[in-house]
Amino acid sequence: MVLPVESQKLNLDLNDDVMYFSVNSRRYLGNKYKLTGFIKHYIDLECGVFQSFADLFAGTGAVAAGFLDKHLVVNDILYSNYVCNQAWFGAENYSGDKISEYIKQYNNINLLEDNYLSKNYAETYFSRQNCRKAGFIREDIENNYTAGKINHREKCILITSLIYALDKIANTCGHYEAYRKNGNLDKKLLLKMPLITGTNMANKIYNKDANELASEIAADVVYLDPPYNSRQYCDAYHLLENIACWKKPEVYGVAGKMDRTLLKSEYCTVNARYAFENLIKSIDAKYIVLSYNNMAQKGVRRSNAKIPDEEIIRILQERGKVKVFKQEYKTFSTGKSNIEANEERLFICKCS
Ligand SMILES: C[S@@+](CC[C@H](N)C(=O)[O-])C[C@H]1O[C@@H](n2cnc3c(N)ncnc32)[C@H](O)[C@@H]1O
Repeated sequence: MVLPVESQKLNLDLNDDVMYFSVNSRRYLGNKYKLTGFIKHYIDLECGVFQSFADLFAGTGAVAAGFLDKHLVVNDILYSNYVCNQAWFGAENYSGDKISEYIKQYNNINLLEDNYLSKNYAETYFSRQNCRKAGFIREDIENNYTAGKINHREKCILITSLIYALDKIANTCGHYEAYRKNGNLDKKLLLKMPLITGTNMANKIYNKDANELASEIAADVVYLDPPYNSRQYCDAYHLLENIACWKKPEVYGVAGKMDRTLLKSEYCTVNARYAFENLIKSIDAKYIVLSYNNMAQKGVRRSNAKIPDEEIIRILQERGKVKVFKQEYKTFSTGKSNIEANEERLFICKCS
């Protein structure tokens, strides 16, 4: 077997019978996979030596994954992201052997009975058989957790494996607001093992509104990557959120969405600047680092950035000296926008 690059670098002890995936093996709007080099470079340069790093809008956890040597605080409002962040960065020990055993079993099941997922989503984002499999696996994870056969981290690792496997075969262009009408549903659901690079007992993982969490934590560097525009993440990833939470709510409409009222983000609304100002005021850090791109007034209306640059600078300057760094970047979009080159900016505020 050819080992993944990460495992070669880290000299991980891997099981030959299962395949592996990393944090970046997932499609996610606004993810910073390709920008982590740029972000890390300027944080290292500007913030010097530091102990703790908080990523309050962590999404996939791609940025936090660049700071594994620090004490991490990792947060996202979506439970589906919390689960993945627990898997990647959680502070609880887990058994890799146990996880790979479950993954092998799950990859070999064949089912004839329908369940919550196949009844609601068969032949839409996934085939009936893949829906049956995913629904069965998610139920089994829950039952095993309730029965005490797996701990919380192991539960999160198995759900993460399921989320990444579903994302690989989804009949979509990367989000779940719609599925392709004549798309390919033949791909097989195949769970793999996350390439987790250790357990740091000092790490803390949260599933809260960042504005609520900010006054409860402190870190040397607090990194912020809020949504820029009116596209709500709970709309784009409702199906993965539904599977992660597994409360089996009623779903409606062609896209099969559940009620998402409590998951809506202020950062996608006209109130974004006020939410941002309150957030910045309550952060306890030596440095505040913000990613925010330059889509304002350039793309289709939904893509327009919610907080004007002058407001960002004014609000950050209330806390200290601000520097701005830039990098050209192409975003993952749904193809409706005409923007070709996009500029990603990093605002670094040294708190006084
Ligand atoms: C631009 S994405 C972050 C992408 C992330 N840096 C990555 O590389 O994957 C913004 C994230 O903020 C989350 N979010 C939106 N509003 C939030 C809030 N009020 N508190 C915490 N997280 C929020 C969304 O669920 C989404 O995952």
